[in-house]
Amino acid sequence: MKLTHPLAFGAVLQQVSAIGFSTYAQIVEGGDNSGQITYSKPDRSTTLFLYIQITPDGADHSAIVNDFNTLAQNYGSQGVALIPRVRYGYSDGSVTTEPDESILMNDVSTWAAAFSNITGTVDIPVIQAGFLGEWGEWHDGQYCQNHGTDDTAADLKVKGDIVNALLDTGHKVALRYPQDHKALFNGNRSVTIHDDCIFDAGFNGTDGGTWPTDDFQTWVDYTKQVASNNTFGGEGCKDAGDATFDWSDYSAVCGSDGLAAYINSFQIAYLNAYNPTEFESLFKDPSENDCVDTIMAALEQWS
Ligand SMILES: *[C@@H]1O[C@H](CO)[C@@H](O)[C@H](O)[C@H]1NC(C)=O
Ligand SMILES: *[C@@H]1O[C@H](CO)[C@@H](O)[C@H](O)[C@H]1NC(C)=O
Ligand SMILES: *[C@@H]1O[C@H](CO)[C@@H](O)[C@H](O)[C@H]1NC(C)=O
Ligand SMILES: *[C@@H]1O[C@H](CO)[C@@H](O)[C@H](O)[C@H]1NC(C)=O
Repeated sequence: MKLTHPLAFGAVLQQVSAIGFSTYAQIVEGGDNSGQITYSKPDRSTTLFLYIQITPDGADHSAIVNDFNTLAQNYGSQGVALIPRVRYGYSDGSVTTEPDESILMNDVSTWAAAFSNITGTVDIPVIQAGFLGEWGEWHDGQYCQNHGTDDTAADLKVKGDIVNALLDTGHKVALRYPQDHKALFNGNRSVTIHDDCIFDAGFNGTDGGTWPTDDFQTWVDYTKQVASNNTFGGEGCKDAGDATFDWSDYSAVCGSDGLAAYINSFQIAYLNAYNPTEFESLFKDPSENDCVDTIMAALEQWS
């Protein structure tokens, strides 16, 4: 962990520190989370990329909030940070989209309270906005049929209410789509972006729709304006709209137009090391240590 300014003893941690790789973890409402909430040293990482999967039925979520608190204590006490995202789904692990606004906003309040309460126990560099859409990724749900000003005023209000409730926790919040960011927070770096589909078509692809093809450069530039070197991160993918990149081609992933160059171009601070599975294999392959070190060093340059 790289501290860029000295800390007073006893102060709440406010350090600017490198994140680098973050390790995938999830807790599921109605499931047995005992294995996930117990500390286990993350692999080359000091951050968990934590999915919190809750049911869409208006439950009080107290058991999974307790699991979250225990996980936060167990990891926080070891100096491991959390990047959480709440999404909807069932105890069997399957995902669904958001419920009606009355249930949804109540759930947002519950989790905003949990994220506020945990301040000082665990470091949360950024909260991914979540809640809306499949996987909490702001697509295909009833309030996220479109992006930015293409969406209805009513849906944009729901989106803004979620992000503002999460901002009130005092943590940085990341939105999924640059168009939503511009419509709601025009240019404001208090809010950043996360990208769930990094390198889907390699360098200069649309990242599976993160940037629309018809106005690609505008939205790439906007993303850099608000998110570069601003706790920008996410995960790789290989299965969305423009999926053409072959992640099993290690020479491409590790080459001069590979992931490290992409990370530097967007000033990306963190990456889920376990997605897609081909990247997880590279990450865990001892003969690819140099490549993994290079990617990690690229991530760790950025705040
Ligand atoms: C707040 O966090 C503490 C741990 O820091 C936990 O013991 C407590 O149960 C939490 N309160 C709520 C309401 O979640
Ligand atoms: C940026 O957004 C934050 C959080 O909503 C707000 O407190 C701040 O006033 C905004 N800054 C500007 C310049 O609008
Ligand atoms: C990506 O696009 C930029 C701008 O058009 C170009 O300069 C660069 O060479 C491209 N990189 C790759 C790897 O295609
Ligand atoms: C990135 O952010 C850090 C911390 O805010 C700052 O010190 C550094 O100068 C920034 N780098 C660039 C290239 O903007």
